[in-house]
Amino acid sequence: SAAEKGGYDYFMLKEIAEQPKAVADTLLGRIDASGSLTLDELRLPDSELREIDKVVIVACGTAYHAGMIAKYAIEHWTRMPCETELASEFRYRDPILDTRTLVIAVSQSGETMDTLMALRHAREQGAKVLAICNTNGSTIPRESDAVLYTHAGPEVAVASTKAFLTQLVACYLVALYLGQVRGTKWGDEVGAVIRELSEIGTQVEEVLTTMEPVRELARGLAGKNTVLFLGRHVGFPVALEGALKLKELAYMHAEGFAAGELKHGPIALIEDDVPVVVVVPSPRGRSVLHDKIVSNIQEIRARGARTIVIAERGDEAVRPYADHLIEVPHTPTLLQPLVATVPLQVFACELATARGNEVDQPRNLAKSVTVE
Ligand code: G6P
Repeated sequence: SAAEKGGYDYFMLKEIAEQPKAVADTLLGRIDASGSLTLDELRLPDSELREIDKVVIVACGTAYHAGMIAKYAIEHWTRMPCETELASEFRYRDPILDTRTLVIAVSQSGETMDTLMALRHAREQGAKVLAICNTNGSTIPRESDAVLYTHAGPEVAVASTKAFLTQLVACYLVALYLGQVRGTKWGDEVGAVIRELSEIGTQVEEVLTTMEPVRELARGLAGKNTVLFLGRHVGFPVALEGALKLKELAYMHAEGFAAGELKHGPIALIEDDVPVVVVVPSPRGRSVLHDKIVSNIQEIRARGARTIVIAERGDEAVRPYADHLIEVPHTPTLLQPLVATVPLQVFACELATARGNEVDQPRNLAKSVTVE
């Protein structure tokens, strides 16, 4: 009913709007007054966490994209190797796991069969399993050694939005906590990032107030057949998530690429007026990364692409090459997915509406897939 949707036309719109609160709720009570993380609820003692020598993340769909981003954060802040794998592929390749492996299963519903089978396989090999989950008492957390709940609240729309942002927050918390417990050369950075993370809800809110041009742009592209998405570093999984949302909701051909991979094939797809969304990292962060992607934008634009650029407010270097510029607030490089994903959700939702599709219940999809 309309009341359930809180006055919005679709649950998805309501859930997009709820993201600042979902993010804040997921941080609540997990950062103490001194600015350190307290994740006692994990039930994995610090002594055990110090024994871990490898992290493996398993998940499906949107949760897999959160896991891909987590890999960058975990390797950076803990200096431990981390791999992220599609849960449906994981156990069939005889993965190397032992008692010093931490497997993280990310799942909104906690009932995804592929993810459940992957975690069962990991536990059989003696690995410790930590669930990042949005549904209290669901199967995945019940079968895990430890759980960190996301506090997104119930997500009704099939296409995941607020659950994704809270999965990212939970992944950052785990990465930072492992860094804190194990002590790494990034020790100071951990404290500073915790502070920035604790304020990120405000930035998500700010993005939400600037989405009208994105909706207008989406409506103008309703007749297109293809949209491409490019990103580097954590912007690459954001590009994949943008493409997934468009497939799910708008039933359009959409693909995400690592921008550096363009020249190895995808650039052949660039033709006149094809929309290409590019996720640009902060120029204040790793500037090499930023400069590389600016040249990628120039390359595709020279070949006729219509460039839709998501960049940090004040990033003047991208402006001359952006046919459409979507500005997001400054965040540390690793946290940018929390703000950069939001315009892509709005974009996909508006395109679906413009194409007359059912936003909350896309064809052929289920909210939770309980078969392998
Ligand atoms: C389904 C949903 C996706 C979701 C995926 C994983 O395919 O349609 O939106 O990302 O399952 O779900 P989970 O509940 O494990 O996060």
